[in-house]
Amino acid sequence: MGPYDSLREYAAAMEQQGQLIRIREMDQDRYEMTAFGYRLDDRMRSKAPAFIVERTKINDRWYDTPVITNVLNNYGTVAQALGVEDVSDDEGSNYTAAVDWIMSFLDADHKWAKIEPVFVERSAAPCKEVILTGEDADLYRFPWIRNNPADGGQYISTGAVVTDDPELGRNVGTHRMMIKGPQKLGLDLSTQSHAYKQMIRATERGEKSVPVSVAIGVDPITWMMSSTRLADVGEDEFAIAGGFRGRPVELVESETNGLPVPATAEIVIEGEIPMEREWEGPYGEMLGYIGHEKNTYSIDVKTITHRERPWVYNVWPGIGGAYLTLPWEVGPFAKLKQLIPGLRKLHTFPGIPPIAVACIEKRLPGEGIETGMLILGYRMTGFHKKIVIVVDDDIEPTDLSRVMHAVATRWQPDPATLMVKQSFHFLLDPSTHRNFLSSKIVIDATRQLPAEGGPEHFALDNRTVMDQQAPHAFDLVDRRWDEYFGDTQYI
Ligand SMILES: Cc1cc2nc3c(=O)[nH]c(=O)nc-3n(C[C@H](O)[C@H](O)[C@H](O)COP(=O)(O)O)c2cc1C
Repeated sequence: MGPYDSLREYAAAMEQQGQLIRIREMDQDRYEMTAFGYRLDDRMRSKAPAFIVERTKINDRWYDTPVITNVLNNYGTVAQALGVEDVSDDEGSNYTAAVDWIMSFLDADHKWAKIEPVFVERSAAPCKEVILTGEDADLYRFPWIRNNPADGGQYISTGAVVTDDPELGRNVGTHRMMIKGPQKLGLDLSTQSHAYKQMIRATERGEKSVPVSVAIGVDPITWMMSSTRLADVGEDEFAIAGGFRGRPVELVESETNGLPVPATAEIVIEGEIPMEREWEGPYGEMLGYIGHEKNTYSIDVKTITHRERPWVYNVWPGIGGAYLTLPWEVGPFAKLKQLIPGLRKLHTFPGIPPIAVACIEKRLPGEGIETGMLILGYRMTGFHKKIVIVVDDDIEPTDLSRVMHAVATRWQPDPATLMVKQSFHFLLDPSTHRNFLSSKIVIDATRQLPAEGGPEHFALDNRTVMDQQAPHAFDLVDRRWDEYFGDTQYI
């Protein structure tokens, strides 16, 4: 059970539970890993295991460096990584348990619990087992993955990018990095990111470059904190990760610039970010579409340190789940709960951020549409939501078929719909043609009350009757579940 101190510790626990498989070799020149990732998702969905590939062929060269991927691929593994005790094989209850767990780290002022990181000696830091400087600091020593034939090149997809600004403080964020040469990386910083704000501030101060260290393959909680915007500008992601872990993150100073990086990281890349921008991409983005080339930043690599036989950790945006960003949903949910007393759950299907499902306990006519308006109107959730489906709180929002059943049977397109002609939206949605704008819709799939034009008596659904009139039947079946299947192997 989590929290874990390193990616390897977490992977070992997953392997022990049969949730991580080892594969001897794969030919990524033929996109074998990518296709395997898709097939796992097609055939096993959230039951797909993580996998580690011992040998990988890239650019006609076989690398013995293991590549691990599909980590944190369901709510159970996320809950376990966070340290939740009662993890089951039911995604709905794991989701609820993980959300409740994350909420428990928020105080009344909406601040996250923090435990300050501690520093360890270089000699005690696994990420310093090998130190490469000068020409030896060569990115092509490692099997970085080109996920998709349309990608502009190989990418580092799981870097925790550490920068420090004298005015804005330290920042840790996940940003993709394109391999551009043995010592040159692209660095994608969206304009909303705190790292981008730091770059603008440094430019205003007339600086020529900004020191950076990138930690790849860090412990799961630090990785989640790097990939989600929980920290405000100036708040320390490492301290928030410590709060979630219940013990400090152990950091060590970088060789060339002194920036702190997690001591148990697999690989650390140190360098400088010049102010001049250059072209990067294209890249298969998180919504599952090939994005445009971008005029963005880059990194001149100075030094690389790593563990003995380090692991490369890879992700595929757009394949499988983006479950690791769950903490990002929970902060805004907690805020919205203060505004919408009946809001019970707010779920975004992993990998499909434009659709949100809100479960409410509706008491008054109009509360369904009001809920959708507030979710769209709150920038932290609204900027990447295009469709808000509001359902009654008997619907499990992680269960797409239950949500669609509610839409099919409780929703009347007229009048239980709100169309928003145009509102702020994120750039990655390929269906929009105007930057930062999209039309939006609220679908009120709660049972419509008579005052909303609904029937005088809304028909009971069969399942609700079961819950109400045969309350012990499901418990009985759950208890006998394994017995029904005997020795039959099933997925
Ligand atoms: C796998 C993954 C890749 C990401 N890639 C990028 C990226 O290339 N550019 C970006 O701006 N944000 C990216 N994000 C989102 C950022 O990590 C997230 O917004 C984070 O809060 C940024 O940190 P910052 O605002 O502290 O700089 C990515 C997230 C994940 C999980």
